[in-house]
Amino acid sequence: MTQDELKAAVAKAAFDYVARIIDDHSGEFILGVGTGSTANLFIAELEKIKHSISATVASSEESARRLKELGIPVIDLNAAGVLRVYVDGADESNEYLQLIKGGGAALTREKIIAAASEEFVCIADESKLVPYLGTFPLPVEVIPMARSHVARQLVKLGGDPVYREGVITDNGNVILDVHNLKIDEPRKLEAAINQIVGVVANGLFAARAADLLLLSTHNGVKTLTAKG
Ligand code: 5RP
Repeated sequence: MTQDELKAAVAKAAFDYVARIIDDHSGEFILGVGTGSTANLFIAELEKIKHSISATVASSEESARRLKELGIPVIDLNAAGVLRVYVDGADESNEYLQLIKGGGAALTREKIIAAASEEFVCIADESKLVPYLGTFPLPVEVIPMARSHVARQLVKLGGDPVYREGVITDNGNVILDVHNLKIDEPRKLEAAINQIVGVVANGLFAARAADLLLLSTHNGVKTLTAKG
């Protein structure tokens, strides 16, 4: 199977998972929807059940556009309350379902939606499951005027920040991708980076990890919960 086929298989598995939740759910159902190539395949699947979804909350303008194109309503998170479930991809996951996200520059909205959801279902192909986080450079969203200051602080934390040229986030900010970080304690590093003035959010999802990882492998889609 190619990586695209693995992504398509996990998108279908996530669709089945959400369809089962909707079947058991009474009343209005608002779904959190993430960003990226795996999330895009999940969005395409949603067309089949669009009449059962009251609305969605999207983690990026791009995902919102795709949802609207399919005739699926997109609302502001402030109008949605607590979401029953949020489905999104990741750049890396460890066995505790702590993640690195933000390869698509949507990390801040992704973090907000994950925080506002009862259940966060991560969808990924098997290449994303790693023993230690940090091979994928950690994205950090930064207020533009603070870019150099934040970069200097990230160097003090042991990383090599690289400005993601030409990228402005949906929130009007910039991204620093931090290479060569030794992420032994993801929660501590997440908190330490959040303390830097000028940082909006960082792509470590450790304090609020995923609840479930649907992992697409060559032997089918596996359902993983956090170890321990
Ligand atoms: C976007 C993200 C994505 O979930 C992450 O980059 C994975 O993307 P893909 O499914 O294309 O591999 O965090 O900000």
